[in-house]
Amino acid sequence: MQVIETRIDKESPEFKRNYQVMDGLVKRLREELKIAREERSEKAVRRLKEQNKLPVRKRIELLLDPNTPFLEIAPLAGRGMYDGGVHGGGTVAGIGVVEGKEVIVYANDPTIKGGTIYPIGVKKALRVQTIAMENRLPIIYLVDSGGAYLPLQSEIFPDVDDGGRIFFNQAVMSKMGIPQICAVMGLCTAGAAYIPAMSDEVVHVKNTGAIFLGGPPLVKAATGEEVSAQQLGGAYVHCRESGVSDYMAEDDEHCIQIIREIVKALPPQKKEDIGQREPRPPLYDPMELYGIIPEKISTPYDVREVIGRIVDGSEFLEFKALYGPTLVCGWAYIHGYPVGILANNGVLFSESSLKATQFIQLCDKRGIPLVFLQNISGYIVGSAYERGGITKDGHKMVNAVATATVPKYTVIIGASFGAGNYGMCGRAYSPRFLWMWPNAQIGVMGGEQAADVMVSVKNDQLLREGKPPLSEEEVRKIREPIIANALKEGDAWYSTANLWDDGILDPAKTRDVLGLAISAGLNAPIRSGTLGYGTFRM
Ligand code: COA
Repeated sequence: MQVIETRIDKESPEFKRNYQVMDGLVKRLREELKIAREERSEKAVRRLKEQNKLPVRKRIELLLDPNTPFLEIAPLAGRGMYDGGVHGGGTVAGIGVVEGKEVIVYANDPTIKGGTIYPIGVKKALRVQTIAMENRLPIIYLVDSGGAYLPLQSEIFPDVDDGGRIFFNQAVMSKMGIPQICAVMGLCTAGAAYIPAMSDEVVHVKNTGAIFLGGPPLVKAATGEEVSAQQLGGAYVHCRESGVSDYMAEDDEHCIQIIREIVKALPPQKKEDIGQREPRPPLYDPMELYGIIPEKISTPYDVREVIGRIVDGSEFLEFKALYGPTLVCGWAYIHGYPVGILANNGVLFSESSLKATQFIQLCDKRGIPLVFLQNISGYIVGSAYERGGITKDGHKMVNAVATATVPKYTVIIGASFGAGNYGMCGRAYSPRFLWMWPNAQIGVMGGEQAADVMVSVKNDQLLREGKPPLSEEEVRKIREPIIANALKEGDAWYSTANLWDDGILDPAKTRDVLGLAISAGLNAPIRSGTLGYGTFRM
């Protein structure tokens, strides 16, 4: 494989300016993550101490093997939603290592409204379960939750992807043979009671943990019976009498210890061998990505400079380098794992779409994971291109992306617009994971273009009615809110709050995150279905 040749000038004013801008964005990311981790009401922290419970991140820290990475999922979910304090959507989740085995952890944070589940919390729980199922990862639930966040119950309860789906998924995972281990570390009320009930093994903490379908206030209201939480569903009730729980723990630390022992006793994980090599760092410093990524998303640059700072030894075997040059495709290794990379270097044309289709088929046949580096304003438009069949060539690419059976990983490193999002494996195309860089933008189209379309539609209407076109003032009134909205709802912060991605990445960490995710993915068979495609329109 050839080493990618770099052409950047680290002394140029452009590099320095870009560096400053990206550095600012990454600093903001760190601040946002710190707020999400630490901002809690005094009352909630006091209550946690009174109950002798450990904070959620301490529980996770004790659970994971020391000095192993924790790949957190959607830490900024729920950012800016509701009253602004539903950090992480009320839960902490991620992939980590317990007793040498890769697992996924899902833990309620009782300091956020009693660990109750908001709509975005349901979405996160379902996302975590999807990751567990797709990657065949044992799942550990640390439950401490008052169930549904009642003021928003209609948004949590009735629909197909609402709360009930969490327990549906638990049944499916049980059938798939994915281990599900549950710790009862607080009151698990109503919906939250089903999580232990539907798990394989339940560890129940004495005095603080309780499981019941209706808590003491509800029981009193419904039947008049006066009963304490522990009498109703404490560890003695469920370990001795009902048989709902399987192990009794003295406190949080003991509970975590038991879970570690359960994980230790699970059968060894058999990971797919895709021919990994000894990992090697890139030749070029990943921090240089800060200076490479232009301040303005529309400024072109050579995406090989990005690939060279993500892959082992900065080595890349480029496929069809001279054909369809607006999409760079080729083979490389990331942390020793072979990957097929597709990275945008401009708008997608027919040639680049055909090249992508062929490349995806090759990787799929060879069992090589696909990595998409997405920076795409869309497929080319215009009458010449329509006549040339851009729609049918774009379709082939989208078709191949949708049905490829190997694991797919997407990083949105800049723009993610229109059908380009689909062709480059956006969320709807089921990449195993999808992350954004902090400079990324996402939408059907950019705000300016959307505003222009709406102005033009209105002017066409007026023309049909024999009226004069919009005045400058009227144009401004149409354009401004569309542009403002697209800016607000199209940035990485809004995306991650809504769980359109699995998190925002520091660009310099992209390679490490991809390595962890590919490693996790190898717990599942390399093919998620039967190799083969639908009909490619010719
Ligand atoms: N929906 C919305 N908010 C809830 C809630 C629920 N189901 N349960 C608790 N909260 C809120 C409380 O109002 C309180 O809010 P505040 O901090 O703004 O005052 C916060 O969560 C903490 O509750 P608190 O009771 O002070 O803390 P706790 O640690 O002693 O107990 C619970 C936490 C969740 C165990 C307890 O509040 C409880 O049993 N809630 C009712 C659970 C229930 O019946 N759920 C049915 C869901 S279908």
